[in-house]
Amino acid sequence: MKTLRQTLRQAESDAVAIGHFNISDLVGLKAAFDSARELNVPVIVGTSEGECEFMGVHQAAAVVKSLREQYEFPIFLNDDHTHSLKAAIEAAKAGYDWVVFDVSSQPFKQNIRQTKEAVEALKSIRPDILVEGEIGNIGNGSEIHDLAGDSRLTTPAEAKQFVTETRVDTLAPAVGNRHGMSKAMAAGETRKHLNIERIREIKAATHIFMTLHGASGTDDNDLRQAIAAGMTVVHINTEVRLAWRRGFDHAFAKEPAEIVPYKILPIVVDTIKDVVKGRLELFNSGQTRVRSASERG
Ligand code: G3H
Ligand code: ZN
Repeated sequence: MKTLRQTLRQAESDAVAIGHFNISDLVGLKAAFDSARELNVPVIVGTSEGECEFMGVHQAAAVVKSLREQYEFPIFLNDDHTHSLKAAIEAAKAGYDWVVFDVSSQPFKQNIRQTKEAVEALKSIRPDILVEGEIGNIGNGSEIHDLAGDSRLTTPAEAKQFVTETRVDTLAPAVGNRHGMSKAMAAGETRKHLNIERIREIKAATHIFMTLHGASGTDDNDLRQAIAAGMTVVHINTEVRLAWRRGFDHAFAKEPAEIVPYKILPIVVDTIKDVVKGRLELFNSGQTRVRSASERG
């Protein structure tokens, strides 16, 4: 089986993206894993700080490892938006494959200093772990909320400086993306849009793997173009959470007297799978990579 780094290289050369889905429980994990297996594509599941606290980092790592080994299937685990080195180290020791070390709310120089420290500390524990850094503001919270706020885009120059000085494996830039969905997005009335040219420019300046965070509610065509422009991983959380909630609402309405969890939960799993499979199909549809103006020369 390919390692995570080899899986990323393969995705980059195929001009596809690996789907990353946040999980809070075994229902979400089963939905992500079954979807990926049915489509035969690799998948990453992630736990944010709140999700880590609920699931337990050792427990999440053990279950993901057991799925990967029993089914010999490329499923990987990410410690998502970890704000402290202590928590990142705990995840690395528990067996996480990836850490998104996120101190993007700090001033730029401090972000560089702390991220560099985290890269060194985490690699000394597990040399093969991938560490991602984040610059810019892509908002907080995978929830239904107002998406207004500072929307300054990451510049190619700051991305290059950040990548060179921190030696991160992957970069999460701000390119018009934001965490969460507005009410209108949840109702399917509006979509998020991305700055595709900026993605190309950052990729050309850094040549690093890039992750698109905050992808829930993003226009399908923008996602295709973002992948073609250089995004190799795409994070989806709010859409999964919305499906989780709608799945339960639907299951309880359909089976008001049922009390057996394993008779109710498959309805929730199927509702989440509809979302995950749709996104995985789109991420893996493949486009020719479109080069930036500077790459074209
Ligand atoms: O790290 C998690 C993601 O960036 C999820 O963002 O809730 O907008 O899908 P989202
Ligand atoms: Zn994120």
